[in-house]
Amino acid sequence: MATERGQFSSKIGFLLAAAGSAVGLGNIWGFPTQAASNGGAAFLLVYLILAFILAYPALMAELTIGRYARANVITALSELSPSPLLKRAGLAVGIGALTVAVFILSFYAIVAGWMLAEFISPAAQLLQLDGLARWVGSQSFSRNALMCGVMSALTIMIIARGVEQGIEAWSTRLMPALFLILLGMIGYVFTQAGALAGLRAYLVPDLTRLGDPALILSAMGQAFFSLSLGVGTMLIYGSYLRDTDNLPRLGAAVTLLDTGFAFTAGLLILPAIYVAQAQGISVFNTEGTLIAGPDLIFQVLPALFDNMGAAGSWLALAFFALMSIAALTSAISLLEVPVSVAVERCSMSRPTAALLSGGVIFMISLLIIWQFDALFNTVISLTTVYGQPLLGVALCVFAGWVLHRNQLLKELSNGHPEIESTFFWRVWPFYVKFICPSLILITFVQSVR
Ligand code: PFF
Repeated sequence: MATERGQFSSKIGFLLAAAGSAVGLGNIWGFPTQAASNGGAAFLLVYLILAFILAYPALMAELTIGRYARANVITALSELSPSPLLKRAGLAVGIGALTVAVFILSFYAIVAGWMLAEFISPAAQLLQLDGLARWVGSQSFSRNALMCGVMSALTIMIIARGVEQGIEAWSTRLMPALFLILLGMIGYVFTQAGALAGLRAYLVPDLTRLGDPALILSAMGQAFFSLSLGVGTMLIYGSYLRDTDNLPRLGAAVTLLDTGFAFTAGLLILPAIYVAQAQGISVFNTEGTLIAGPDLIFQVLPALFDNMGAAGSWLALAFFALMSIAALTSAISLLEVPVSVAVERCSMSRPTAALLSGGVIFMISLLIIWQFDALFNTVISLTTVYGQPLLGVALCVFAGWVLHRNQLLKELSNGHPEIESTFFWRVWPFYVKFICPSLILITFVQSVR
């Protein structure tokens, strides 16, 4: 089967695809707004620590299981051990991961659709298509459904083309564009009055917040969401790596790219909030805290762009192109989870599997749009606050306990004997077996109580 499966053609292809999965709305929207409302650099510090001591080892667990098993999440987990009990446990965790991936994509595609709408809106204004601009600026069911449908169709089309021609080719095109747009926007924002105050709010830590359990839970959830952990996306991307690629190094590079991108996005968003304030736009809630979440993206920033005249329309276009691209490269990794299961377990062709899985997920998205108040936030918190960390624990347990230590070590050092003299080699197998799952659980229990 190994020869029939897709494979990334190069290390850089894998890196851009995995970074494409990791870098998404969570980095450009989630991280900066959480930092803004949680003590600036205090949040950044806790986030960075958790990303490297919890999320990186958990990422390594997924990549290692994936490359060892060379299969989709359900087959990989249920065939790690010959024991019938462990097979059943693997099946259950695999189905859990698949389900959470499906539900994350169902809300993620809705938000991606909003980004697309915000992108089309200034484009329609620039082209003087007033009717289109008004419709796309409305909050109607038809707008949300259509925009979500377009993002879902793009995701399906890319995934239908396979690992090298689809995932890798598109990530390689889109990720550099993403970074350039981000840098260009930061350059522009720093020419505006107020930006330096934003930089200060971001980089001067409010140390009183450091031990706050709510801050620690938010930072852990953010780290897991941002690195796309627990749901089998990194496992399946790991399964498309070549035997001789250096896993610990690639995993570290993905973690660095992801945290680096989140940090850089903070250099745009926080200064932009303070530029908006300097221009008289209200950026504080009635309780005196900074506006975060959707209001920041859909009210404060558009108000700022409006204030900037013609340049503002171009900036809005660039910003929402940035958001749409970031969302798309993450969405494709989520769709790959059910598609790889359908292709490998049900012998479906890839295009059929992509259309079918994408179609079912789009139906769930429609249901959420229709019953928005009841479903949207519930789906987000069930999948990201509970699902991802708990599945992350399960995957560490599978890597640490079910995969034999020798198999684990052999997979890690494949083609790279030099890894055997690294600190990572000595510590990680023990760490992923005992410390990482306990730390995730303790953080989780402490903070959900
Ligand atoms: N990591 C993505 C982001 O930060 O926006 C979101 C995500 C993608 C979460 C893929 C989970 C996943 F499996």
